[in-house]
Amino acid sequence: MADAFLIKGLDGAKTLSGIIAVNGSKNAALPALALPFLFSDTVILENVPALEDIHRVEELLQSLGVLCKKQKPNRYELTAQNVCNTTLSPDIAKRLRASILFTGPLLARFGRVSFPHPGGCVIGERPIDLFMEGFEKMGARVNEKNGMYDVIAPKNGLRGADIFFRTQSVTAAETFLMAAVLARGKTILRNVPVEPEIGELVSFLQSRGARISGAETHRLEIIGGEPLSADGVAYSIIPDRIETGSFLILSALAGKKVTITRCNPEHVGSVIAHLRSSGVNLLVDEDTITITSSRAKRMQSFYKSISMKTHEYPGFPTDLQAPMAVFLTQADGEALIFETIFEGRLGYVPELVRMGAKIQDMGPHKIFIQGGTPLRGRELESPDLRAGLAFIIAALVAKGESIVHNAYSIDRGYEQIEKRLQKIGVSIKRISA
Ligand code: EPU
Repeated sequence: MADAFLIKGLDGAKTLSGIIAVNGSKNAALPALALPFLFSDTVILENVPALEDIHRVEELLQSLGVLCKKQKPNRYELTAQNVCNTTLSPDIAKRLRASILFTGPLLARFGRVSFPHPGGCVIGERPIDLFMEGFEKMGARVNEKNGMYDVIAPKNGLRGADIFFRTQSVTAAETFLMAAVLARGKTILRNVPVEPEIGELVSFLQSRGARISGAETHRLEIIGGEPLSADGVAYSIIPDRIETGSFLILSALAGKKVTITRCNPEHVGSVIAHLRSSGVNLLVDEDTITITSSRAKRMQSFYKSISMKTHEYPGFPTDLQAPMAVFLTQADGEALIFETIFEGRLGYVPELVRMGAKIQDMGPHKIFIQGGTPLRGRELESPDLRAGLAFIIAALVAKGESIVHNAYSIDRGYEQIEKRLQKIGVSIKRISA
């Protein structure tokens, strides 16, 4: 028996109302948890979301010898002075892709790191070639044996390098940014993505004395040096833009009047633009977004379909592609979705089709959606956290009850989702199934 969610569908009615607050960003918190390796003193993190992925990283840090104090649920004090081990536990690292973020900082600080091929959501091949090439450029030797990579820095430490990322990779950029802070001399990182999570990391490091230029551009230049001092200054994690976007899409489909608070609207600019073009009524303020609907019943012939493709920031995020597909099953007309980042991120489609959606598979990267189709509740198996959230939205729009199995996959990225959705009127409960 494992946790699942039982959801009562609204059959297209738009009844949700109230306030839903956005938590700290998972993908900003994960690299921030690797920061202690760059500091000679304690690093304080605030607004860290209480998610399964964060708990796995906490276990990983403890197994390395990092002192983790949690005074309040969302505030961590982390010290890496007593690190005794530079091998990432395969049991944990294989469960989450973000474990790769710890390799660069550990290698830069302690001269060695061992780790397995990281696991995580099944959304595509997810290679680590950019990491291996980068380590070698910084002078390290990479060996692979019995499923473990062993990376060893030169005796006098990693050296600065000129690295061009063939593909824009968020975690590769974060890993090499952090490694470069402790490397000898100058590192230039080129074709760096401009996701806000990277910008925030750069900005905190700069504020603690790291010599980094080119923030929020595709070219970062870093002059390495000794470990930094945090001096008691806390790093506050930004609001989760993917959670914000998920709530926007859910409210557009089922909301009468829902206000999303504690968010950064600028970070979901692309989602807002798509929803507005489709006819969604949004009121954007400094850190809130309100969605209202004048119609209480079905939205067919109300929202219009729009074709879209996923793109690196500030384009439409791949992490919201599945929720957007659910939206488009309800909009009027035909739409093409082009997933440009991952080749395995359309695996959720057959489940939506079984619910009544009309979606045509057009290869590993494209689907064609015939909108305006009512959905029927059913039992679903969440394949990954973002598709899992999309299934919750589909279940909410559908007629009848649905069960979404594999709640753990959703808990990886959304904290206590059922309690937060209940507050705006969603009939959802956690069950053992
Ligand atoms: N890639 C390579 N080689 C590499 C690394 C990446 O070819 O060595 C490719 C990937 O296969 C993919 C592209 O680069 O085609 C972009 O992947 P990226 O490395 O940017 O993904 P990531 O850093 O592993 C982060 C987020 C993901 C999010 C992607 C894209 C974190 C911890 N994860 O992953 O978030 O989908 O960027 O924006 O920041 C999620 O939260 O559900 C999630 C999967």
